[in-house]
Amino acid sequence: MPRLTTPLCRLLGVTQPIIQAPISSSPELVAAVSNAGGLGVIQATWLETEELIEVIAGVKRRTDRPFGANFVLSLTKVNGHALIDTALAAGVPVISTFWTDPAPVIERIHGAGALALHTVGSAEEARRVVDMGVDAVVAQGVEAGGHVWGQVGTLVLTPACVDAVPESHVIAAGGIADGRGLAAVLALGAGAAWIGTRFLLAEEHESHPAYREAVMAARETDTVLSTVFDEGWPDAPHRCLRNDTLEAWLAAGRPASGQRPNEGETVAYFATGEAVSRYSMFEPAAGMTGQVTSIAMYAGQGVGLTNQIQPVADIMAEMLADAAAV
Ligand SMILES: Cc1cc2nc3c(=O)[nH]c(=O)nc-3n(C[C@H](O)[C@H](O)[C@H](O)COP(=O)(O)O)c2cc1C
Repeated sequence: MPRLTTPLCRLLGVTQPIIQAPISSSPELVAAVSNAGGLGVIQATWLETEELIEVIAGVKRRTDRPFGANFVLSLTKVNGHALIDTALAAGVPVISTFWTDPAPVIERIHGAGALALHTVGSAEEARRVVDMGVDAVVAQGVEAGGHVWGQVGTLVLTPACVDAVPESHVIAAGGIADGRGLAAVLALGAGAAWIGTRFLLAEEHESHPAYREAVMAARETDTVLSTVFDEGWPDAPHRCLRNDTLEAWLAAGRPASGQRPNEGETVAYFATGEAVSRYSMFEPAAGMTGQVTSIAMYAGQGVGLTNQIQPVADIMAEMLADAAAV
């Protein structure tokens, strides 16, 4: 495998400039990315304390390489910061934060000897959070899948952030789904690519088979940025695959929450039997039953370049070889 080690890689203690975006809490996925030389990142926001401890232990059993944990700061479970303290106490070396100001947590992250990454949507915000003390910024372009903080495309946001924080590190996110995209963001000055959508089809990523099928089939034009799946995380723009819920809402003229078609209807069930409503923020998880493709299927525009299920090691080898060739 070619090595594309950057100064950011050296800071993180990894050999390859690929970071797996926090799309899942699966220790298998996170460890596979770290074992392939990148940085796997645990999606920690929705875990209970005990679950987080177990996931971290699961990652550590599978790899001795660095990995991270990600927290959505605005959501209640993370808001008291106890969950971040749990990750730090368990020895997670990289903490990534998203959605609202990281100032209240930077000191505790550094105090535990970990690195702090924060996701930004503008060059001005990059400057501000680096001045607060974060060690690297994730510049998230509007092409990104999942919740989207900014409104600028990756091609412009990345170099704008690089110029704004020349003494720090920029990680490019949004729309990077193959080696050409990886080469492009390295050329723009990024120290690594932060990749979500492409890893949705990693063999090690557990999700509902119908969601995987939809990701495989989707084209670059098949995602919509909206605030429609808002139960559990209101007023937060997110990019998802078109489905019947989105189509009906768009056809109705994008009505506000409370006035949307089939509001409050249960469309699916978790494996535990718990109901999932049409406008819930949860995506189709493994073991869910019902009309699972009616709920939020998060994906970025890079879904058009994401077409087959592969082991993490193959995804990374292919991306690195293609980027090196470019
Ligand atoms: C299914 C899914 C879940 C995500 N969950 C989170 C999350 O919990 N925290 C976070 O900071 N970003 C989350 N994101 C956004 C990613 O961190 C990242 O910005 C995005 O995936 C990059 O764009 P890409 O999907 O085009 O690769 C999620 C993205 C997806 C696709």
